Amino acid sequence: MSLDVREDFPVTTTRLTSPIDGQERPLVYMDHAASTHAPQPVLDAHQRFLSEAYANVHRGAHHLSAVSTEAYEDVRWKCKAFVGARTDQDVLLAVNTTAALDKAAHLVAHEPGRTLITQMEHHSNDLPHRARGPFSHVAIDNQGQLDLEDLERKLERYETKLVAVTAASNVTGIRPKLGTVVDLAHEHGARVLVDGAQALAHVPLDLRNIGDTGGPDFFAAAGHKAYAPMGAAFLVAPEALLDEAPPYRPGGGTVSLVGTDEVLWTDGHERHEGGTPNVPGAVAMGAALDYLRGIGLTRIREHEVQLLNQLVTGLSGTPGVTVLGEAPVEDRVGAIGFTVDGVHHGLVAKILDNEFGIATRNGCFCAHPYLVRLLGIGDDVEDLRDHLRQGGSTREPGFPGAVRASLGLYNTEEEVKRLIDAVATIAAEGWQGSYVWSPERDWVPEKPRAITGST
Ligand SMILES: Cc1ncc(COP(=O)(O)O)c(C=O)c1O
Repeated sequence: MSLDVREDFPVTTTRLTSPIDGQERPLVYMDHAASTHAPQPVLDAHQRFLSEAYANVHRGAHHLSAVSTEAYEDVRWKCKAFVGARTDQDVLLAVNTTAALDKAAHLVAHEPGRTLITQMEHHSNDLPHRARGPFSHVAIDNQGQLDLEDLERKLERYETKLVAVTAASNVTGIRPKLGTVVDLAHEHGARVLVDGAQALAHVPLDLRNIGDTGGPDFFAAAGHKAYAPMGAAFLVAPEALLDEAPPYRPGGGTVSLVGTDEVLWTDGHERHEGGTPNVPGAVAMGAALDYLRGIGLTRIREHEVQLLNQLVTGLSGTPGVTVLGEAPVEDRVGAIGFTVDGVHHGLVAKILDNEFGIATRNGCFCAHPYLVRLLGIGDDVEDLRDHLRQGGSTREPGFPGAVRASLGLYNTEEEVKRLIDAVATIAAEGWQGSYVWSPERDWVPEKPRAITGST
């Protein structure tokens, strides 16, 4: 089943010339988990705002400021409706998922208690909590899935204010059982923050019906992983909490009155949105949510599950290739980490790009604790740490990591087949070029391609 949306995406006409055999090939883009491309309707909405409605928001009496403010405020409602937030939840806008997650950590920072962070979190849903008070990690099992018994044990053991959990891992695509996590946390008096970066554009969401206790309290996601340009994100948060927490970044827009000695802060989302926001980015994010709604998340999910099946089956069945994590495709999104025996992840990604025109990502995906667990390298981490302390780099060939292929709306079965065949060629050491590693440029073919770009 195809979604018939390829023509909406200008990027799908991109062709790459291989520096190895000189052949031109269509780009196969499988780095959607990092950032997605915008389709033409979203690019048009972005451009229209820049050319016809551009003005700073709030407090401007003139026409364009009113138009811009209305468009910006409308995005909050689009986000809320798209994810099925409750009426007692509000939306804070931010620049990326990291900032949205950090706002959630800030909103509960003044409350007593510990934050439980799952070991499968992206660093952006881990480090902001570590910076703000006591925390513990919830274990992962041998399949790379969240250990719900460990979560329950820790909820019983610690006075917990927040459970930080991803809706879908950016390393394995595995989706924890959010309903169980939410209900367990609520039964123990803790709130739940869901990192929705990898879920927003991939699975139908209805937050208030996740579990039986009203759904997660916070939900963060970004437009650049949901077919909008970079620079806009949002956080769903309990309205009541917004007035209790101190302003996230005090400054213009966060106050109602400033005297020489006294400041009266505003309430609600404005209290936490100091400074000029990325209005065009937010408007484009709203347009991207409209675009996704137009296709329908159920259809999008069906398309992804079909390609995921093909991808996971193909890679797992390739000798020398290991897919990270074990879960049925129904419990995953299309972000699949894998390793190739004896070939460094950086080299695999470089060959895929140079010889097959396939864009993947490699490394540790900002999820070191999870990757260390998945790769089973716990005992060697101390050596790696010593090496880094002595000035080593994580990009060196000796450093562990994986390759990730991640799927999007316009990927096709034929593209997934191209990836699987290419990985099989690499695993059989059948690549053509000769590559060298250098600290400045990582893996490079001895005769690199001139990077001209498509613009
Ligand atoms: C699961 C997850 N959380 C958070 C982030 C951080 O997102 P952003 O780059 O929008 O800050 C990412 C980025 O890849 C992610 O995959």
